[in-house]
Amino acid sequence: MIGFNKPYLTGKELDYIRDAVEREKLSGNGFYTQQCQQFFVNRYGFKKTLLTQSCTAALEMAALLLDIGPEDEVILPSFTFVSSANAFALRGAKLIFADSEKDTPNVDIDHVRQLITPKTKAVVAVHYAGVSCDMKLLMELASKHQFFVVEDAAQAIDSFYDGRPLGSIGHLACFSFHETKNIISGEGGMLVINDERFSSRAEVLWEKGTNRSAFSRGEINKYNWIDVGSSFLPSEMTAAFLWAQLQELDTIQKKRLNVWNRYLESFAFQVREGHLSLPVIPAYASNNAHMFYVVLRSGMERDALMAHLKRNEIQAIFHYIPLHSSPYFLDKYRGRELGQADHYSACILRLPFYTDLSDPDIDRVINGIHRFYNS
Ligand SMILES: Cc1ncc(COP(=O)(O)O)c(C=O)c1O
Repeated sequence: MIGFNKPYLTGKELDYIRDAVEREKLSGNGFYTQQCQQFFVNRYGFKKTLLTQSCTAALEMAALLLDIGPEDEVILPSFTFVSSANAFALRGAKLIFADSEKDTPNVDIDHVRQLITPKTKAVVAVHYAGVSCDMKLLMELASKHQFFVVEDAAQAIDSFYDGRPLGSIGHLACFSFHETKNIISGEGGMLVINDERFSSRAEVLWEKGTNRSAFSRGEINKYNWIDVGSSFLPSEMTAAFLWAQLQELDTIQKKRLNVWNRYLESFAFQVREGHLSLPVIPAYASNNAHMFYVVLRSGMERDALMAHLKRNEIQAIFHYIPLHSSPYFLDKYRGRELGQADHYSACILRLPFYTDLSDPDIDRVINGIHRFYNS
């Protein structure tokens, strides 16, 4: 079976984990945590970064930092992972779902514009497949209507909007290092704080509501409970694993782009015949080769191709079920139809995609798809 995902190891992970253990500081915010956080500051110019146990945890921190409450509305795409919504649902916010664009599964900023009210406190920009949302338009709306933008950059490491790194544009941004992402640490994530108004409180929430970070830096002589917070830090072993991955970021990205381009070049016939369409990368966006998907003409055809590939021992999979029509949310949703979100949910097929996917295995996937259309 060619699996959908296979974690890539650089070979240095265990060395750094051993070193973390030998440093005898196993909990969070030690040497490796700080190395990783600084890596992102240096490479992408993020103002402040805090490693978290997951992107979900980073999103929950973002909701806390923005003081989201039951009076607030949060606009987000329906076509996204549940964590983009849950973080704000946990704070009691009213979730307002927006549709996807026609050309990409990203949120349609024109639709966001129509949904803004005086109660809009935040918009979550999910960069699907690592491809940027239209951030210029969104940030213009944010300053005009005074709401915050949280980038859900779970899939968007090393990707750019008009040359600007994703994660550096919104007021806050959240990344994932889950084992399905480009750079991994098993579970793992990071909060980026670009708006300095949130910097010192972010450290407090991160450290269970205490000013322990300031204490660790020697700025105060004892630490105290000063705010709400939770246990958001990953351990040093997780950070050590992540550090091994970050050292190889460029190699990993190069390998993934090769896989992505092999797929891209292989479906010209199906595109010409109108059987499927390929991912669109808008002129303002870069491609970080997070995933490769094709969009079929109908849900039935997508399911048939998925089943055909499975019979050929190839694991290709669908993606999100739109959140506005999910069992948890269905009876709370009073909005209009979100046709593009439904379309992508029904018609996207994600092909096996991982850093070390071999040429023969890529050929098998490509040939499997060709055979489906030739038969
Ligand atoms: C868009 C998006 N947001 C958030 C998450 C949650 O990430 P994590 O598993 O690190 O909590 C994911 C996970 O796949 C995701 O795709």
